[in-house]
Amino acid sequence: MGKVAIIYGGNSRQSRLKALQEKSEAYFKEQGHETSSIYVHELPAEDLITANFASVSVKEANQKVEEASLVVVITPVYKAAYSGILKTFLDLLPQKGLEGKTLLPLVLGGSFGHLLAIDYALKPVLSSLGATNILSGAYVLDSHIERAEENQFIISTEITERIDRVLSLANQEVNKA
Ligand SMILES: Cc1cc2nc3c(=O)[nH]c(=O)nc-3n(C[C@H](O)[C@H](O)[C@H](O)COP(=O)(O)O)c2cc1C
Repeated sequence: MGKVAIIYGGNSRQSRLKALQEKSEAYFKEQGHETSSIYVHELPAEDLITANFASVSVKEANQKVEEASLVVVITPVYKAAYSGILKTFLDLLPQKGLEGKTLLPLVLGGSFGHLLAIDYALKPVLSSLGATNILSGAYVLDSHIERAEENQFIISTEITERIDRVLSLANQEVNKA
């Protein structure tokens, strides 16, 4: 069974983005994979902002990516691109840190206006880090995720089905590796 790293580029665990992280984590665990999540906003901000490659926390997070055969990149759309939070971490990965890995982008936006953010913004960065197997992933509208009681989320049926499909495709890739 493979290892899966989930990079969470949101600004808090209260964000509806967390629903995508929870769904991915639950799915890959159920498939028997070992999963680990990196909450970028919880890493030491100074290390991220000053690009401190010697940071122990950053090294630990990098190790999770290094060991994974599948990396799920989960980010909100901020100003027509992925979040700057996510970028602070990607900048600290080794130059070809995503080589040989399958990448699954899951993006949450407020409108369909930036539907192509995965293609024009995220994919070029992942490619520059050596990734060649970047799955199409999913762009999800925030209106399809509802907050429920006790920090739970409800994802619309339509989106649940779409995410299930992309997770299943990613799972096939991990099993091939
Ligand atoms: C600073 C900021 C910039 C944003 N820019 C965009 C944008 O350019 N395009 C878009 O579709 N959504 C944009 N959004 C909406 C968010 O992507 C979306 O509402 C968010 O991922 C949902 O997270 P939440 O549950 O924390 O509100 C922006 C949100 C914030 C806070």
